Amino acid sequence: MSVILETRNVSLHYGEYRALQEVNLTFREGEVVAIVGPNGAGKTTLVNVLTGLLKPTHGKVLFRGTSIAGVGPVRLARLGMARAFQLVHIFPNLTVFESIASAVISQQNRNLDFWSTASAIEPVRERVEQVATIFGLQSRLEWLASHLSQGEKKLLDIASAFALNPELILLDEPTSGISSSDKRGLMDTLMEAARKAGIQTMLLVEHDMDLVSEYSTRIVALTEGRVLADLPPREFFADPHLAAAIVGKPPVAMKG
Ligand SMILES: Nc1ncnc2c1ncn2[C@@H]1O[C@H](COP(=O)(O)OP(=O)(O)O)[C@@H](O)[C@H]1O
Ligand SMILES: [Mg+2]
Repeated sequence: MSVILETRNVSLHYGEYRALQEVNLTFREGEVVAIVGPNGAGKTTLVNVLTGLLKPTHGKVLFRGTSIAGVGPVRLARLGMARAFQLVHIFPNLTVFESIASAVISQQNRNLDFWSTASAIEPVRERVEQVATIFGLQSRLEWLASHLSQGEKKLLDIASAFALNPELILLDEPTSGISSSDKRGLMDTLMEAARKAGIQTMLLVEHDMDLVSEYSTRIVALTEGRVLADLPPREFFADPHLAAAIVGKPPVAMKG
């Protein structure tokens, strides 16, 4: 399968601190890659570098062969990549409809002057309803985002990324803050949504090793900013040292 995203010798320093060091990764169409590692390993920094939010101190990030350093989220989405933002981008005073519509409108490259009439634009409404239905939010369309449960907020966050119609999606801890009994349901929804939306490739930061082994096709393990392992789950879990290196601190401390 063809290469969709790659890092070449990527290092990222926060001042003196080396959050990523010489990271070389290649992601291909069709992969579901779990990015794992203890708290502070550099997972979120990697997601930020992979989505062009942070420019590497050294090295390059190439999306379909083109450098994405410094591209903003709008251009990134037009290139075909989207991410969820761990709820940071949920606007509490927008309704679910408006939240998803803003992603749909930006994806359809419409001017935001259309905002006030967004609900009157039939293709937008249809697409919003389609995305909301995939994520089980169809009965919540008129709710304010702030009135949603924590789990529903996560779904809205992820739905907004899906609404951008990307070929590659990145999710930083999609199941954090969700009760362990609901995590599998969220992952099933995600996988089904990706399948329906024709999303080829998914990269997700995940702490729950049961979910990682069940849903990923490949595991990239980071420790102290370096790639410790890059293996299919079967090989990864066959090495007890790897799993032990990743678990590090209990995931409880990392739930957001
Ligand atoms: N903006 C920042 N400035 C300085 N240090 C940072 C910043 N963001 C993250 N770090 C540090 O970089 C390291 C990696 O952080 P992060 O990528 O968030 O790790 P993870 O997501 O794996 O928990 C941590 O030690 C963190 O404290
Ligand atoms: Mg993180």
